[in-house]
Amino acid sequence: MKIKVFETFAGIGAQAKALEILKNKIKDFDYKIVATSEWDSYANIAYNAIHNKTNKDNKIKYEDKINYLKNFTHSLNSKTPSSIERLEKNGPDFIGSLYDSFINSNNLGSITEITGEELINKSGHVDLLTYSFPCQDLSTGGFLHGGNKGTKKGSNTRSGLLWEIDRILTELDEMNEKPKYLLLENVSNMLSSKHLNDYLLWLNKLNSLGYSTQTFVIDSSEFGSAQRRKRVYALSVLNVTDEIFSDTLKNKKKNSISRDDVVESNERLENVSKSLHIQQQLKDVLRVNYNDKELFAEAEDALANRTPSRNKMYEHSPMLFTEYKKEKNKKDATLSRTVTTKQDRNPNAGIISILNKDGKPDKHFKNVDFNNKMYYKSSLFNYFSII
Ligand SMILES: C[S@@+](CC[C@H](N)C(=O)[O-])C[C@H]1O[C@@H](n2cnc3c(N)ncnc32)[C@H](O)[C@@H]1O
Repeated sequence: MKIKVFETFAGIGAQAKALEILKNKIKDFDYKIVATSEWDSYANIAYNAIHNKTNKDNKIKYEDKINYLKNFTHSLNSKTPSSIERLEKNGPDFIGSLYDSFINSNNLGSITEITGEELINKSGHVDLLTYSFPCQDLSTGGFLHGGNKGTKKGSNTRSGLLWEIDRILTELDEMNEKPKYLLLENVSNMLSSKHLNDYLLWLNKLNSLGYSTQTFVIDSSEFGSAQRRKRVYALSVLNVTDEIFSDTLKNKKKNSISRDDVVESNERLENVSKSLHIQQQLKDVLRVNYNDKELFAEAEDALANRTPSRNKMYEHSPMLFTEYKKEKNKKDATLSRTVTTKQDRNPNAGIISILNKDGKPDKHFKNVDFNNKMYYKSSLFNYFSII
């Protein structure tokens, strides 16, 4: 049996990737992504490149692709909508890739515009709904994005899009079509004292819809990943008996619940992870072999410009940067804490190795003008010392 998945806030498809890994590791486990929801055009094109092997039909006329894309709200920055005219400025290849991404992933567009009925009509019954909703208003760095308002219903924040999942589940409930499983993913700050009450509201909502939920805080580095990332995962199961899967909060006194009451032990998960033998090395992830011309071109292209705003960022948080002068004192020298992708530094792995062991720019970068470029997230020298 294939588990049918609706991947909302799909981004570049981490959930789809996890399922693919599980499928390769576990005999008899199978799944199909029957629909996705994502409005960021670049993420959609990346998702398609990563997860879908073929383009369905290249013979579709340009006008027909445009007309199809007009059915959805798109965004080029994941913050505000972008008009079709603006998308067209990126050229016909971009439009073609975006069209393919929608068709191949059965992307139903912005979560705010999807109804339960439409989902069932376009994908059939769904067994698992994943929702890694935006974290900007929850993350500790949220203040950089203009607020830390959390997931409050009606807050009109990006993290508040969580409540679109409530709306869709309620619509599915009316059709007797609720998914058996739900999987939430978000930043661990979601359980901080500032945001815990909002999360309890969400758990109550899930409970009233018939779901039992267990919440885990997982550090990816303890589960085979080459980087540290603490994330909250909440797994909900519909109409299940306590013997099989009980709601963590079932017997807790509701008015005095703390973060620890919400979080489940990871022990069971660790055993699962070990049995799957998933282990990734940082050196396998980073693309820092600059003898490979393509990788060097990518790194050079991805060097951050020394703009006034980045200089300001540096002044406020020098730990984000590895500056040449800091290299002399190894303890002071920093490295990127997470391997990340940034759309404006496309498509590097988030770390560019600029400095060599002597603290001098690597020979490949000798023509780079570091008055205009930054040593940003750099230094092979540093991070190899931690592997
Ligand atoms: C925390 S990220 C999820 C990342 C994803 N799990 C991945 O593997 O890349 C949140 C995602 O929600 C998307 N998003 C924001 N507003 C949306 C909307 N109205 N409809 C659908 N997706 C939206 C963002 O573009 C972003 O990709």
